[in-house]
Amino acid sequence: MQINNEKLYYVGGFVRDEILGLQSVDIDYCYEGNAIEFAKNMQIIRTNPDFGTVRVVLDGQEVDIASTRIEIYPKSGHLPVVKTLGCTLFEDLKRRDFTINALAKNTVTGEIIDYFNGLEDIKNKKLRVLHDLSFIDDPSRIVRGLKFSVRFGFELDNSTKKLQDLYLSNINYDISYHRLKKELKETFSLNNDKAFDKFINQGIYRLLGENQLIPRVEHNIGELNVQFGSKYPYMVYLGLFDLSRFELTYEEKEIIVNFERIKSSMPEDNISTYNLFNKVPLESILLYAISVNYEVAINYLTNLAKVEIATKGDDLLKLGIKQGPIYKEIFDYLLACKLENSSLTKDDEISMLKRRFGL
Ligand code: CTP
Repeated sequence: MQINNEKLYYVGGFVRDEILGLQSVDIDYCYEGNAIEFAKNMQIIRTNPDFGTVRVVLDGQEVDIASTRIEIYPKSGHLPVVKTLGCTLFEDLKRRDFTINALAKNTVTGEIIDYFNGLEDIKNKKLRVLHDLSFIDDPSRIVRGLKFSVRFGFELDNSTKKLQDLYLSNINYDISYHRLKKELKETFSLNNDKAFDKFINQGIYRLLGENQLIPRVEHNIGELNVQFGSKYPYMVYLGLFDLSRFELTYEEKEIIVNFERIKSSMPEDNISTYNLFNKVPLESILLYAISVNYEVAINYLTNLAKVEIATKGDDLLKLGIKQGPIYKEIFDYLLACKLENSSLTKDDEISMLKRRFGL
């Protein structure tokens, strides 16, 4: 299929990552003009005429091609709307977040289009917004800046840092929390505690809502997430804050609800530790570990959670014990013994229960 067209550009993260020598997950194309019109002879998967985007199959792969567009923010912090479709490439790049993301590369000539000194900023490892209203338009860009800073080891340029400080000193809480959440999730899924330190030290956490308390965390959350295989690593960073402004999924809510339920309990022995954490989501237990009692939670995750009794229902039948509520009593008893002494063998278990239940 023929896409050889000098008005077709690679844009955004793809160009940035290529210059940084990194593999990009998706390729973003931008057509200077109307992309849907341009793609009319291609294999189209779907179009979104309001945004001028089209998804096509290119070399056997699905990719998005966007029309160049000017966006405006009818309400600061809310989703932008398209003002003009098919504008110049310059105007399209101008609406973007950081100079390093405002680069384009011509798909035919390979020429890099760099209107805002993005190449220089990549070289100097700087994150610089394109205009003074950037964070007011879209405060989720503050979190994007945090994400890129830890992902690439870049720093905010001084003037951008000042704009960030200014915004954080006077936050507009009437914004799109959906967008903010997407960026927070991506940032804290990196499992990088430097991001968490910056989140706190630079006051970025204040974006989450008014009256947030700063949690005191003395453990490396990223390491714990990796060691225990969290499925929702970002929740172990964010679960200590008030997330009431965000729309949470069922699983995310379960993590918070369970943590709230267990956080004021202080189990004093193995059996009560086991009962406290049994069937609780891993991320709630890690929240407990980093903010309530590290040793108790880690003892559960590394030792107690793995304890299993060797005696099964069949063994009880063989001993002539009829099925009934007594089974639960026996298993609870054996589990309590095993939690205190995990080296008990099956024979030990059977002799203990014989003794205990007078068999
Ligand atoms: N963009 C923006 N403001 C945002 C989000 C995105 O200006 N709040 C622009 C940037 O130019 C960005 C492009 O849209 O490069 C594509 O957005 P996205 O896919 O979210 O970002 P990437 O830069 O590709 O980042 P990632 O590598 O994390 O996907």
